[in-house]
Amino acid sequence: MKYYLLTIALIIFYSCKKPSQRGLVAKKAMVVSARAEASNIGKQILEQGGNAFDAMVATQLALAVSYPYAGNIGGGGFMIYRLENGSIGSLDFREKAPALATKDMYLDSIGNVIPDLSTRGAMAVGIPGTIAGIFEVHEKFGSLSMETIVKPVIDLAYKGVVVTKKQEIRIAEKHEDFALANKDTILFAKAWKENDTIKYNHLAETLTRIMKNGKDEFYKGETAVRLANFIQDNGGILSVEDLANYEAKWRTPISFQYDDLRIISMAPPSSGGIAMAQILKSVESYNLETLGHNSLKTIQVLAEAERRAYADRSHYLGDPDFVNVPQDKLTSDSYLKDRMSNFSFEKATPSSEISHGKVDIVESDETTHFSIVDQFGNAIAVTTTLNSGFGSKLFCEDLGFFLNNEMDDFSSKPGVPNVYGLIGAEANAILPEKRMLSSMTPTIVEKDGKLLMSVGTPGGSTIITSVLQTILNVHEFEMTMQEAVNAPRFHHQWLPDEIRMEPNRFSKDIIRQLEQKGYQINEERSPVIGIVDGILVLSDGTLEGGADNRGDDAASGF
Ligand code: GLY
Repeated sequence: MKYYLLTIALIIFYSCKKPSQRGLVAKKAMVVSARAEASNIGKQILEQGGNAFDAMVATQLALAVSYPYAGNIGGGGFMIYRLENGSIGSLDFREKAPALATKDMYLDSIGNVIPDLSTRGAMAVGIPGTIAGIFEVHEKFGSLSMETIVKPVIDLAYKGVVVTKKQEIRIAEKHEDFALANKDTILFAKAWKENDTIKYNHLAETLTRIMKNGKDEFYKGETAVRLANFIQDNGGILSVEDLANYEAKWRTPISFQYDDLRIISMAPPSSGGIAMAQILKSVESYNLETLGHNSLKTIQVLAEAERRAYADRSHYLGDPDFVNVPQDKLTSDSYLKDRMSNFSFEKATPSSEISHGKVDIVESDETTHFSIVDQFGNAIAVTTTLNSGFGSKLFCEDLGFFLNNEMDDFSSKPGVPNVYGLIGAEANAILPEKRMLSSMTPTIVEKDGKLLMSVGTPGGSTIITSVLQTILNVHEFEMTMQEAVNAPRFHHQWLPDEIRMEPNRFSKDIIRQLEQKGYQINEERSPVIGIVDGILVLSDGTLEGGADNRGDDAASGF
């Protein structure tokens, strides 16, 4: 009788359990990005026999056409890769400060930050790294010709891209900024509506010249001259010499163990890899699986680890070519154990009691990520950005693309908050040719020495915590890739001292219990936290795409 009742109970339990929601499953290869057009072009390159690196070039450029909000050739980014044979690496194609940049360039004569100077218009523009990045990737790993890879993107630019509802809203929101940043009427001045088609003829011409003449077209050729003249005509300082001197850099990624996973992510000038290592290693000894997904205790322990990691991040991190980053110390077990020693489930630790820096990182919420696994077993994770949505809002009509406002990711004035209420640090002060600190966290995860996942997201300072929650969702809470990217997210970044939560996605009961423990909850700051895209290798070797339902993101595979 006892066994009979138990069997009935188990049947009822499993039949009530929500069926798992899988994303697109493909046998051999997959691309997941912010737009179906870009994912499809990446997939097309793979189908033609190209590898993940060929598809990286195509997808990056296709995002510049189909997702000008963050996809770019006027910005920069980072790529993590893992080859089929297990070797790993990363490419830094982050923007750099122009040679004429100075520490005080955004301050007035009495040392106050001049509003908007680092965020809108030509003075906000860092030297773009994307074109150097894609040529570096192609030279090292590419297998198809640049013509084969770029031609479909040029065709897409001429044909045009259909505006989605989300794009319509984003373009309308920036209408005033476009007018303030540009002397002339730009393509985006029009009130584009859902289902309109935007054609990118000038961008197609620029891409054609780059396809024919190579990287030098953008950094030393006709495009370089036209770009530098345009920026200077608009009051900026970026010169042809700055463009000519730009180089992307191969860097050793951060790699660390969490349980039986090996996590491989971006090293400085991104803060992503170090901060994620600190947070995950700090919570590793707590049994999150037993504590439960988004339970009171899981939120508490993660928020406390995040608080401590973000306090460190602000103080210590910057461009490793200019500052010494104590990477080994910050991620060592003994250091992290010590950092968590004053944590208790009884009550919140106020951020004022957490040492290191009175400062935080300067950055914004708009970026984009794509993941690719190819039919040969190579995987890449790429996060790329203009910084703010549509970057500096300065649009070079002649060349057909937006310029970044990545200079705002430096600390304009250490100790003073930027437009996002975040405060910058000395390690991230402006210097000529320095790279500004980033949070972009493109990540690859291995299990038992095999590829498990490629993942990443936009979201400014929330990138790191969004990526790590997605990894935990799969690893600890047994979600599918699609469930893992869709799941509600929260975020703590030391200052302001609050847990940011996606609105209406956490129960009133959890919020009340957290408040009783002394946590400030902010459900208003971010309508969404991250738009995560990822690919998971399933136990039978097939690939599951997770395209976040918060955006227009899409997976494409075969
Ligand atoms: N601009 C966003 C980031 O680099 O993190």
